[in-house]
Amino acid sequence: MTDEPANKPRQANKMWGGRFEMSPAELMVRINASIGFDKALAPQDIRGSKAHAAMLAETGIITKSDAREIAKGLDQIADEIGSGKFKFSEALEDIHMNVESRLAEIIGPAAGRLHTARSRNDQVALDFRMYVRDALDAFDAALGALQQALAEKALQHAHVVMPGFTHLQPAQPVTFGHHLLAYVEMFGRDRSRFADARKRLNECPLGSAALAGTSFSIDRHMVAEALGFDRPTANSLDGVSDRDFALETLAAATISAVHLSRLAEEIVIWMTPQFGFVRLTDRWTTGSSIMPQKRNPDAAELCRAKVGRIAGTFQGLVMVMKGLPLTYSKDMQEDKETAFDALSSYAVAIAAMTGMIAELEPVPERMAAAAGRGYSTATDLADWLVRTLKLPFREAHHVTGAIVKEAERRGVELSELPLEAMQVVEKRITREVYSVLSVESSVKSRTSYGGTAPQSVAKMAKSWLKRLEKARKAV
Ligand code: ARG
Repeated sequence: MTDEPANKPRQANKMWGGRFEMSPAELMVRINASIGFDKALAPQDIRGSKAHAAMLAETGIITKSDAREIAKGLDQIADEIGSGKFKFSEALEDIHMNVESRLAEIIGPAAGRLHTARSRNDQVALDFRMYVRDALDAFDAALGALQQALAEKALQHAHVVMPGFTHLQPAQPVTFGHHLLAYVEMFGRDRSRFADARKRLNECPLGSAALAGTSFSIDRHMVAEALGFDRPTANSLDGVSDRDFALETLAAATISAVHLSRLAEEIVIWMTPQFGFVRLTDRWTTGSSIMPQKRNPDAAELCRAKVGRIAGTFQGLVMVMKGLPLTYSKDMQEDKETAFDALSSYAVAIAAMTGMIAELEPVPERMAAAAGRGYSTATDLADWLVRTLKLPFREAHHVTGAIVKEAERRGVELSELPLEAMQVVEKRITREVYSVLSVESSVKSRTSYGGTAPQSVAKMAKSWLKRLEKARKAV
């Protein structure tokens, strides 16, 4: 029994309490609320609401003066949130109801007209899309900066010889510039994946309403254009229930985070005293509280690890979406919290990597010495046998193998092996062979397109720097 008069319905919730008699269980409030994380969508929510209100006025669905009041109130809310004065309420569940409820406090009954021809289903689909779109734009700029740092370093060190590895065993000499440019290519593909995702994402779901569209004569094209979308989504059911824009972005971010992780791992390896290939400034390393000699590549290690969260988030959202019938289900509220975390972790990792690359210096002596070890110019010897003695490559490979075996037996490098020892294996070998056995001549000879010859590397680095500059100017 309640002592409220019978003709006054109890409001279990002021946004949708009309037919509810009981308030939600305390735990229901907790499990239901998303405000703890979706407050991050406030800027998108307010922007979307302003565009919606303007359209409602333009189409005569609400009055121009109500629309003006709504816009003013929303601006005030944006300020309150920006300055930290806004009081978020868990009872109001999410960002959409928090904003609308505050709007009612500020402007009174006109606030109740904002939700005409709209539902939280299309509203959240819009807000999340715009959030992901902002993230995609930020990723593109950040990856561009990382590519710039890599290409500049590559140009500077186009000629610095280092060992190229397969199986992490010395394979053939390459240059440091060439190695860095490999990552410029990878991050370039990552950017094009993001650009591709952005194209598919860029349709406006607002106006799908709850799921079926609306009986009001709204102008969805107007709202789409005002919010920077290419067009409205073409099916209202799809509009409220599609989350593949987030899945696709997370998938592309996962691939890119794998690239970051590989580069980070190389920095970790290169910084070990055993390799000693690079030096990184103190700004990106830490010491140990017990071992005074230590210099740990923590930033690189963290970049290496971030892929875990990002790939995990992708997997998590796949699991949430899998098997969900159309259209909106509350499951989909679980799309945001980890996505926000993954997208911001990824952004931090790119920025940290960019900082590290800019302050990473190669140690050319160490690299060159390592490049010459492990018979890394054996392929050059085989190629010489093919070119000069016209041996079929397979045979040249066998001959070279026998020469390497002899060098190994004597404990010397190929360039130190006496001519007579080589001639025991293949008597037509001449002194001229020594000209191809140094690491410098090895890299210099690899002039095929995309190869490691220092001149080609410098040319490629310059062409990338030009492309990157052009892309920056186009934004
Ligand atoms: N907070 C909700 C979400 O994140 C907003 C949409 C709620 N819609 C609904 N019909 N309960 O998905």
